Amino acid sequence: MSRFLSQQFASLTPYTPGEQPRDQQYVKLNTNESPFPPSPGVLRAVAEESAQLNLYCDPECTLLRQAAAELYGVEPKNVLPVNGSDEALYFTFLAFGDKTHPFAYPEISYGFYPVFAKLTHVPAREIPLKCGFTVDYEDYLGIKEHIVIANPNAPTGVCLSVSEIEQIVRANPDRVVVIDEAYIDFGGESCVPLVNKYDNLLVIQTFSKSRSLAGARLGFAVGNEELIRDLNTIKYSVNPYNVNRMTQAAGVAAIQDGAYYAANAQTIIRTRERAAKALEQLGFTVLPSKANFLFAVSGAVDGETLYRELKARGVLVRHFTKPSIQNYCRITIGTDEQMDILLSRIQEILREKGS
Ligand SMILES: Cc1ncc(COP(=O)(O)O)c(C=O)c1O
Repeated sequence: MSRFLSQQFASLTPYTPGEQPRDQQYVKLNTNESPFPPSPGVLRAVAEESAQLNLYCDPECTLLRQAAAELYGVEPKNVLPVNGSDEALYFTFLAFGDKTHPFAYPEISYGFYPVFAKLTHVPAREIPLKCGFTVDYEDYLGIKEHIVIANPNAPTGVCLSVSEIEQIVRANPDRVVVIDEAYIDFGGESCVPLVNKYDNLLVIQTFSKSRSLAGARLGFAVGNEELIRDLNTIKYSVNPYNVNRMTQAAGVAAIQDGAYYAANAQTIIRTRERAAKALEQLGFTVLPSKANFLFAVSGAVDGETLYRELKARGVLVRHFTKPSIQNYCRITIGTDEQMDILLSRIQEILREKGS
């Protein structure tokens, strides 16, 4: 019982981020970061910009919005840069949700959605997945809630097609449909082009994954001018300087160096396919992933044991305690060398368990 915490947050269970241990060097495959460093252009831009840290940053993120608008094929008024895409999600619940405007999202999805719903006192409905951990777009046609769907979904990696998402957007013209595309650069097809066609679609992207900027905290909301204006109302009521000076510079350079990041994403896709096959050969069932991670269940070891045994051997993966997925582990795709270490540690564990 806290003495001072407002009663309205007394029952709030905060989001649990993946471990970021400092005690030793792990092969870190637990928070879906890129194993590749930022491009040299990003490092240069950050170093140059840091000389002006005495000055506030541009609250309108003018250069970054221009660069992002070009990247996404929209106008700068359709883009809001944010402090990691988590912030865009938070602003979205604040801006569009209330007691009479609830949200719906898949029952197995990004763990922050229920936290933001609770934090903002927005009622939420969790829609069960179908077998194979698939999101059935038909469950989202003509419903009474605003919608958030991670595509590809997390932690499963399973992806919907653009035409399925378009049907959801079209069938809910009076609801905001938020598509969280944190992992879209690893083989899925982005819905961003639909933003020019539908005024109720908000696409959220991040530079944390495919653009190696998790530590800089940069994401984007892309949508109709009115939706972006609403999000700006929240932003300017919370923190006008939400994207710091160095991150703005890093973002512009990361867009300029697009070829470097596209090549890294292709490498990660190749490594993912190789790792999925190797895991299957070791008796795992692996969901078809279009993300920079695999969601896999062993026929021989339960998810928590595998997570603990791997950690004891210096490899971190992510385990979730939700009963329907507790036998699975989510494994970020690292470099080929990191995945080889993972696979050999798994072989050791399976040998010890006698399977
Ligand atoms: C589905 C999904 N959305 C959003 C995020 C947040 O990313 P960030 O705040 O780093 O942009 C994550 C992070 O893992 C995620 O998995």
